Amino acid sequence: MPENLSAAAAGTWKLGDFTINRLGFGAMRTTPNPDRSVAIRVLRRAVELGVNHIDTAAFYASPGGTLQVGDGPIRYANELIREALSPYPEDLVITTKVGPGVDASGNFYNAATAAELREQVELNLRQLGKDVLDVVNLRIIKKPGADSIADRFGALADLVDAGLIRHLGLSNIRVDHLDEAQPIAPVVCVQNSYALDTHRDDDSFVPVCGERGMAYVPFFAIAGTAREGTATTEPSDAVRRIAAAKGVSEQQIRLAWTLHQGPHVLAIPGTGNPAHLEENIAAGAIELSPEELAELS
Ligand SMILES: NC(=O)c1ccc[n+]([C@@H]2O[C@H](COP(=O)([O-])OP(=O)(O)OC[C@H]3O[C@@H](n4cnc5c(N)ncnc54)[C@H](OP(=O)(O)O)[C@@H]3O)[C@@H](O)[C@H]2O)c1
Repeated sequence: MPENLSAAAAGTWKLGDFTINRLGFGAMRTTPNPDRSVAIRVLRRAVELGVNHIDTAAFYASPGGTLQVGDGPIRYANELIREALSPYPEDLVITTKVGPGVDASGNFYNAATAAELREQVELNLRQLGKDVLDVVNLRIIKKPGADSIADRFGALADLVDAGLIRHLGLSNIRVDHLDEAQPIAPVVCVQNSYALDTHRDDDSFVPVCGERGMAYVPFFAIAGTAREGTATTEPSDAVRRIAAAKGVSEQQIRLAWTLHQGPHVLAIPGTGNPAHLEENIAAGAIELSPEELAELS
């Protein structure tokens, strides 16, 4: 691992009025390990190495939340973040998402109503121990055709006005959702599933976000088509070849490719493994030539 390992190597981006390192951290994978001390260690080490953008959700929880693993007490990502990092460093930006949630009986649901969104925001505030949420993404389930998000996005804009949220983003959306949301309130980021081998239909959406001055934040950049379930997807020959030539891992090449898609593209790799965390941060310093990018794409 390089001696000067730092999340700052990939440069910064202005997320609303926050300046963050483009190489961030996704907290979804902190919950599966029954040994919560490992998650605490990963989170603290991430911040020590310069990560100042952490993505989370109140429904990232094990067992019982989106990640169903075994029995035992529930580990909420938000509570792990609070335990590891509170009192929070001044420059730490925590982005959370609402829309999906867990009801009173412990059942996961996908689409909160406008009224339920306020409860979800308040839950995030309580779990994280914050007075104001830095960035909140409205995470939707896309429907083909007319698919208005105006009521739900408007409800979140009211919570910005009420002082509970600083900035808003959108997740799992198309450009028509963004077109509808922007007149309601500023959008600082779009968080969609996108990787070398996943949802490449967003190839045209990524630059639109840059042109509109907002971050594009891909999730599953490493997991790809394996999504939530497993560690990583099968690497292509190009990924394998370029990783071997550079003496880095295939996962690092996938992350580096992400960061080369534009200065407004942020990375939020998720891991519960301290060694993987360091590899992911090191990926922020990997340079890919135009020829390598062409071969990968
Ligand atoms: N908006 C949404 O709908 C949405 C949906 C899903 C996720 N997210 C957010 O996006 C973040 C990123 O997504 P993700 O965590 O699912 O996927 P990811 O970062 O693409 O990949 C994570 C998977 O890859 C493994 N991994 C990570 N670094 C590795 C490395 N260096 N070498 C080998 N394996 C490695 C992890 O296992 P180990 O733990 O063993 O390292 C885990 O299985 C999440 O943490 C979450 O915050 C958002």
